[in-house]
Amino acid sequence: MKTTLPARAAISCLILAALLAGSAQAGIPDTFTNLKVFPKDIGKQKLLGAMRDFSTALDVRCTYCHVQKTPGDFDSIDWASDDIKHKDVSRGMMTMVRNINSDQLPTATGEPGGMVRCITCHRGLENPRTLDRVLLDTMEKDGVDVGLARYRELRDEFYGAGAYNFSPSTLNGVAETLAQSRGDLDGAVKVLDLGIEMNPDDSITYLMKSKVLIIQGDKTGALASAKKALELDPGNEQAAKIIEQLNQ
Ligand code: HEC
Ligand code: HEC
Repeated sequence: MKTTLPARAAISCLILAALLAGSAQAGIPDTFTNLKVFPKDIGKQKLLGAMRDFSTALDVRCTYCHVQKTPGDFDSIDWASDDIKHKDVSRGMMTMVRNINSDQLPTATGEPGGMVRCITCHRGLENPRTLDRVLLDTMEKDGVDVGLARYRELRDEFYGAGAYNFSPSTLNGVAETLAQSRGDLDGAVKVLDLGIEMNPDDSITYLMKSKVLIIQGDKTGALASAKKALELDPGNEQAAKIIEQLNQ
């Protein structure tokens, strides 16, 4: 049978609607009994839209916040129950987001309304810490090597997802904090070496490594690193100056 394009589109719409009704909405009541932040008479579509936004923002399933009595059985979820702590934390987050958008943001910018949503901070993560924070906290607790292993894991899992900033500036910033605030020059060099492995064209990483090696007394290494920085970025005056001084 030959179907015209609009007819086919209509058919796939029907299929899609049936799929949505069958999977996501079966077992979900039409009225709600335990809403404390949303209006009590909120429509089902609107509530479920918000719930999907929550799930996407944190990259979790409904059962991250809602109690499922029989594992794997969607129909056994007790939607009204507050037994999972994440649900009540989320209520606090909803109120926070509402206040930011209705008060704090308009006050700060002088523009009406605001665009902050769960995903603005969460970016697909349950705990929306930034990558440099995750690395520095891990290094403080378990050492630099464990932090570097964590970087590789997170990069394998999240690269391209927008959850973490894998641009050279993150590792450079971590190295700077290790060197300046924690006095850990060896750790800083390890971080910069990982940076060179991951972003071999970043002149700033080489320049920073050169500076750390100077403090460590490794003149040869510092010179090689500064030369590499200048090669990648011929206009880099700092690298040129370091080379000039080291050659004297
Ligand atoms: C990050 C936490 C979180 C996730 C994930 C989540 N919810 Fe919710 N859900 C809540 C919160 C918080 C409320 C209560 C809102 C309020 O008090 O106004 C709620 C309320 C509900 C209710 C109303 C229950 C009642 O009777 O009061 C339903 C139904 C619901 N969610 C369905 C879903 C579905 C379906 C999903 C998955 C697509 C989902 N939720 C994912 C946090 C979450
Ligand atoms: C302004 C940034 C911001 C926004 C917007 C935001 N959150 Fe959060 N959220 C955080 C931070 C930061 C944490 C981690 C707090 C901590 O443990 O240090 C967090 C933690 C959470 C947790 C606890 C996770 C855990 O590990 O236990 C949940 C659940 C959560 N947020 C849900 C939401 C939901 C749902 C929304 C949207 C209604 C939202 N958040 C909006 C910043 C935000």
